[in-house]
Amino acid sequence: MPTFEVVTPRERYPAVVERGALARIPQHLPPGAGKVFIVSNKDVWRHQGARIEACLPLAERIFLPGGEGQKRLAPLEAAAEEMVRRGADRSSVVVAFGGGIVNDMAGFLASMFMRGIPVLQVPTTLLAQVDAAVGGKTGVNLASGKNLIGAFHQPLAVLIDPAMLETLPEREYRAGLYEVIKCGVIRSPQLFHLLTEQAEQVLAREDAAVDAIVAESVRIKAEVVSADERESGLRKILNFGHTVGHALEAETAYTRFLHGEAVAFGMKAATHLARLAGTLEESAADRILRTIDLYGPIPPLDGIRAGALIPRLASDKKTIQGAVHFVLPTAVGAVKVASGIGAELVREAIEAALA
Ligand SMILES: NC(=O)c1ccc[n+]([C@@H]2O[C@H](COP(=O)([O-])OP(=O)(O)OC[C@H]3O[C@@H](n4cnc5c(N)ncnc54)[C@H](O)[C@@H]3O)[C@@H](O)[C@H]2O)c1
Ligand SMILES: [Zn+2]
Repeated sequence: MPTFEVVTPRERYPAVVERGALARIPQHLPPGAGKVFIVSNKDVWRHQGARIEACLPLAERIFLPGGEGQKRLAPLEAAAEEMVRRGADRSSVVVAFGGGIVNDMAGFLASMFMRGIPVLQVPTTLLAQVDAAVGGKTGVNLASGKNLIGAFHQPLAVLIDPAMLETLPEREYRAGLYEVIKCGVIRSPQLFHLLTEQAEQVLAREDAAVDAIVAESVRIKAEVVSADERESGLRKILNFGHTVGHALEAETAYTRFLHGEAVAFGMKAATHLARLAGTLEESAADRILRTIDLYGPIPPLDGIRAGALIPRLASDKKTIQGAVHFVLPTAVGAVKVASGIGAELVREAIEAALA
């Protein structure tokens, strides 16, 4: 059973990748734990609820609304009221069971409820397994932007069962694969190699291939978060493809592309930028671009112009005091963070990605 330790200045917890990992939930509850609240959504429950119910037959269930538009503070207030009505107190524990939206919302709920109760993260989408559930970032959207209120609230443990992915819609699965490609490009030539050589098995969701890509991505996320919980340094590399990706999501009002699909586009732009800025050899750039395309296509980019995306880069949440940061590959498996890149080069890179 691959288990990866996340070690932050205040916490230490395991991220377990294992078929059947849900059966381990009871052993990760704190001694003397009170009521357990499974926080999920109806869609996840329909597909996978029976599996978690079998492990936690006595737990209470709280359902949050689904969709990015409902990832707001109001449903959390309602959920907290519901928890109180059902007898929650400071000994209660939240089990976040769902995709990244549920992980972020239930984690934030746990961070606020009676000033903070423990949460166990049980992610059910590929994106949540390899990214959202590990690292302690929780939060919701404001009308003014994504994830603008939240808290760091590290879980007791992250229990990752790759079998959850069997019921995931094809498009959601592929969107998560782009974040896996990201992990390969930023830190793991071996993962990147697996993605290029075994694309067929990965896309067919063969157990061995899925287990391998999830485990290696979780290993990387755990390592990066342990080195830099609050994103003052190394954690920034996880933003590869996200600078332009976020601009594309905002430009299309978060409706046309799934997050991972926008990141795929952003990774292509960043790879072109690295090539143009001279940090990456042409042959390595080609390999990265071809691998992204292996898992495509993403929805058509009709009507998107570089000139519309560029002004959005400056308003990205990751932009501090006007300096736009780009994570640029220097080889397959290595990146550097660069700022102060000329506007003309950025335009050229985005145009190359649009072409
Ligand atoms: N906290 C972090 O570090 C972090 C990192 C990356 C992304 N995120 C957040 O994650 C969110 C996106 O997460 P997501 O892509 O998982 O989307 P999501 O949570 O909306 O899940 C996608 C869809 O899949 C369904 N689903 C979930 N599990 C399923 C299963 N096993 N079988 C069938 N259907 C299933 C969901 O109901 C939903 O309709 C965004 O809000 C983003 O901000 C957070
Ligand atoms: Zn992402």
